[in-house]
Amino acid sequence: MDEQSFIDYLRVKRAIDDRSLNATVWNALVTAMPLASQSCPWQVLEIGAGTGAMVQRLLEWDFLHYAAYTALDTSPLFLTEARHALSRWAEQNGLHINQTSEKLSLAGKSREVTVQFVAEELNHWLATASHPKSYDLLIAHAFLDLVNLDETLPPLLSCLKKGGVFYFTINFDGLTVFEPPLQHSLDETILSLYHRTMQEHFVGEKLRSGATCGRRLLTAVGRAGGSLLRAGASDWIIHPVQGKYLPGEDRFLRYFLQMIDEALREQGLVEPTLLRSWLDQRINQIERGELMLIVHQLDLVGRC
Ligand SMILES: C[S@@+](CC[C@H](N)C(=O)[O-])C[C@H]1O[C@@H](n2cnc3c(N)ncnc32)[C@H](O)[C@@H]1O
Repeated sequence: MDEQSFIDYLRVKRAIDDRSLNATVWNALVTAMPLASQSCPWQVLEIGAGTGAMVQRLLEWDFLHYAAYTALDTSPLFLTEARHALSRWAEQNGLHINQTSEKLSLAGKSREVTVQFVAEELNHWLATASHPKSYDLLIAHAFLDLVNLDETLPPLLSCLKKGGVFYFTINFDGLTVFEPPLQHSLDETILSLYHRTMQEHFVGEKLRSGATCGRRLLTAVGRAGGSLLRAGASDWIIHPVQGKYLPGEDRFLRYFLQMIDEALREQGLVEPTLLRSWLDQRINQIERGELMLIVHQLDLVGRC
């Protein structure tokens, strides 16, 4: 998928994530955080921040009041999109905006949030800059399946102050279901091979957490020096109501199928005509307002 399409995918994913985030885990996060003030703002680090959906969500959900927020992502294009989207949101909400080449500051009643955009690869950033015990809150949303947990979590958690909080959300956990079923075994073959493509990617020498990221995190955070406060499911469940999807859901389903198609074609794992026929049937189901999707994911909140 090209970067512009991925930006659109992240845009439509935002509302689906909003509906899916686990409320109990969210409440545990809200309870775990100390009060922020103008003189004592939270230091927040988000890794794999993409187009800034999470920082905007935290502002809209009235969670971020006084904060210095670092949004890190490898893609300068996604971060530019994040900056534009946040500026638009701030304007629409009557906040005062101050911009420099690296930062965007938003100020209003009971609110002073500065977002710094860092276009770097995470492991490179961890290895080259020193951030010991700098942050009150660490966020990773739909990201940790891309890294090797035992390699990345220890240096990452060491960026948190003692007692600092981590909030790891939308972590894929090995189950993708399309309904209604097609030829049963073809569905199973395609989806299990798709999960294997996630698993088999290497980061450096090591395998990334991939399709079992959610359950692996439950123990990996402990090995990395964190302790779990609460975990819960944050499954995406997309279904039409009387043949109609909520806005963006049909686009999201098409992007989701495109990602499966690209992953399987790249690795030559399924006979191309068989894959095409499976995709065409699934696309027809979207057009008829029939296709449903369940993706099992976990959210976690914890402390260092
Ligand atoms: C699935 S997207 C999620 C984006 C965002 N958190 C959201 O859900 O809207 C994963 C993001 O991680 C970024 N990314 C992938 N590997 C990375 C790495 N090694 N270091 C930093 N960012 C990375 C990608 O550019 C992408 O924006």
